[in-house]
Amino acid sequence: MVKVVEITEFGDPSVLKITNKDTPKLQANEVLVENKSIGLNFIDTYHRSGLYPIPLPSGIGLEAAGIVKEIGSNVKLLKVGDHVSHASMPIGAYSEMQVMPEAKLVKVPKEISFEDAGAITLKGMTCEYLLHRAYKVTKDDTILYHAAAGGVGQIFCQWARAIGCTLIGTVGSDEKVEIAKKNGCDHVINYSTQDFAKEVLEITNGKGVDAVYDGVGLSTFEKSLEAIKLRGMFLSFGNASGMVANLDVKKHLAPKAIFFTRPSVMPYTATRPELELSADRVFTAMKEGKIKINIAHKYSLDEAQKAHEDLHARKLLGPAIFIP
Ligand SMILES: NC(=O)c1ccc[n+]([C@@H]2O[C@H](COP(=O)([O-])OP(=O)(O)OC[C@H]3O[C@@H](n4cnc5c(N)ncnc54)[C@H](OP(=O)(O)O)[C@@H]3O)[C@@H](O)[C@H]2O)c1
Repeated sequence: MVKVVEITEFGDPSVLKITNKDTPKLQANEVLVENKSIGLNFIDTYHRSGLYPIPLPSGIGLEAAGIVKEIGSNVKLLKVGDHVSHASMPIGAYSEMQVMPEAKLVKVPKEISFEDAGAITLKGMTCEYLLHRAYKVTKDDTILYHAAAGGVGQIFCQWARAIGCTLIGTVGSDEKVEIAKKNGCDHVINYSTQDFAKEVLEITNGKGVDAVYDGVGLSTFEKSLEAIKLRGMFLSFGNASGMVANLDVKKHLAPKAIFFTRPSVMPYTATRPELELSADRVFTAMKEGKIKINIAHKYSLDEAQKAHEDLHARKLLGPAIFIP
């Protein structure tokens, strides 16, 4: 039997329930993975709450690393014993064992621990496409990242520091200011107590930033627009505070001719070459020491409800994982 976290209805963290399932059977192009480390991600809360509706009943979780235990008859890229990770559908990473299509798995280099791989595959590939493809950050850019001490935030900040741009981070508490600085922010603004748009304009001599990376969403949207320079780039990639529902092209984008994108990791890793490129850049950045993972908390699968409560309460000081 396999221990799995499942939801049968949408709702608050209490809908996350432990259940035991039969060991899954494989199709020809599928792989059975024994998960060793499972990433906790904000998107898991959107699936759980129904903000992003999914068919029910459903597992939860999109990121894990583990060992290949069994392969289907047509699997070509992987063998039993390989270390692998994923950041992809089908949803269901909160599980001791998981069946994945071969095409969605990447090989994890042996120098990278399961714990790190389970924390960085989704978050790291997100930072990869955000910094290198959705908008190509250069050392001459000044950029703004919201929730800089968070799971994606810490990885993003370290990678941005390696590029050499000027990085302004926002955080929600004084405790997180030091964390954001340690991870590479040149300037940190506590947006719970300060007007971040005003601070950004002061730092940039009234010009505004080249790009805003906004995964906080509703509560930061309007001020993020104030903080962008003329013809700057707005990357809206998440909804931690709620979804930006009413983008008004004339009101929000036209006055400063802003470029707006709503990117996510799936479209940026949609093809096998893109997935391999992104994962390779992440693992290489780790091996080169550009990114170091500081795991903020390790949960058991039985603590899934608590993990989601902590995420909502903004308690986590960096990436967190489940150890099944
Ligand atoms: N599009 C993509 O490809 C993609 C991929 C991965 C993640 N994301 C998005 O990136 C964002 C960060 O994800 P993550 O998993 O690394 O989470 P996280 O940053 O570890 O946690 C979210 C952070 O958002 C801030 N926040 C502001 N208002 C909040 C509120 N009302 N409730 C909860 N948190 C609030 C908190 O930081 P402060 O206390 O410092 O404000 C909190 O720690 C999320 O929006 C996620 O959906 C998008």
